[in-house]
Amino acid sequence: MSTSASSSSSDPASSSVASPVCASVQHGRRKVFVDPVLASVDPDDRLVSLEALPELFATLAVRRVFLVCDRGAYQFSGAAESLAGLFGDRDVEVFDRFTPNPKDFEIDDAIAAMRRFGPDIIVAVGGGSGLDVAKLSRACDVAGVSARDVICGKVAANTQGVRLLAVPTTSGTGSEATHFSAVYVDGKKYSLADQSMRPEHVLLEPRFTESLPASVTLASGLDATCQAIESMWSVKSTDASRAYAERALQLAWHALPECLLRPTAEARRRMMIAAHLAGRAINLGQTTACHAMSYTLTAKWNIPHGQAVALMLEPVWHFTADAESSSVIDPRGRGHLHDVMLRVCRVIGAHDLRHARDRIVQMLHRLGTPINFSEAKIPARDAVDLISQGIDPVRMGNHPVRITPEDAVQILEPLC
Ligand SMILES: [Fe+2]
Repeated sequence: MSTSASSSSSDPASSSVASPVCASVQHGRRKVFVDPVLASVDPDDRLVSLEALPELFATLAVRRVFLVCDRGAYQFSGAAESLAGLFGDRDVEVFDRFTPNPKDFEIDDAIAAMRRFGPDIIVAVGGGSGLDVAKLSRACDVAGVSARDVICGKVAANTQGVRLLAVPTTSGTGSEATHFSAVYVDGKKYSLADQSMRPEHVLLEPRFTESLPASVTLASGLDATCQAIESMWSVKSTDASRAYAERALQLAWHALPECLLRPTAEARRRMMIAAHLAGRAINLGQTTACHAMSYTLTAKWNIPHGQAVALMLEPVWHFTADAESSSVIDPRGRGHLHDVMLRVCRVIGAHDLRHARDRIVQMLHRLGTPINFSEAKIPARDAVDLISQGIDPVRMGNHPVRITPEDAVQILEPLC
């Protein structure tokens, strides 16, 4: 598995020629669909190309498709036009009765519709919420109970559900590669994690991101970038997750500014692969302090998730880089953490941990995302109080350095 931090001219990602994310190759007796960039990290036969979709459906004897999507995103992304022809004469039932940040009763609604229809496959098209609804509907489809019983852990998730094909229309969450999803029960956020949640098939089509507003491209790209960095240093990181994350960061660090400032098909392709690899990385390593301290910004002041996480990145990096050895909770020790942070430095063009802070701030400034509370137009003292009191303990538990609520106040002060 490649863990190289530097790109070279032979790097498939360095090609300036736009190409589809996936191409089909013969793998033993099976035809699988790979991208050369993805293959350099880890080939994955979950990937399917648009052109190969009819073959996949034929192989799986698909006659009935349960399509979970936000109708707006489905149309505007171009997915409707591309997929409708590929569905052919199969029966397709559309489910779109859900809201951003889906609720448990919406999952119940989806399950009821899915049971009535009896699909051979679920196709989920959209950003995070559409994919979350499809993943949760499958996992929570347990006879005689409601979705909240599964979400709240009273009943085990369904592991025998119908197959799921995930088609992301943003380059951000990486939800198509993860085994967890967020859902709200009575206003409280839950994250259901189960291996059965992970989609068996993933279709990455960068063209579906072309019509996104710049604000969505920015927020989703920042989310992917932070997910890559956080999963690098997470206490749950593995050799594999760090390889995915490092590759994701290599791609995203250059592709995201291009997608915003001078978008090309190739930049969108790299950003979509970056987000997918970051998704694979957090599927193993999960997220840490930046995410843990971001949720209040989104819940209280509607700061888009990616921008909220990115606002936390530089101060959290500063605190983590300066932490005493006694504060490091990763059993691999401070040396391991230092090595990982240096790997991030190499990718983002920083010569040491301090310079990395400058590089991060320069990047955020260049992208036009807030770098302090004033730019985010939120009251600084309220932000410090509410964020430090509203830290997500699970995400924070993955951070390699102990951060107390008092430490959080110290981290946040420079943003005031
Ligand atoms: Fe995220």
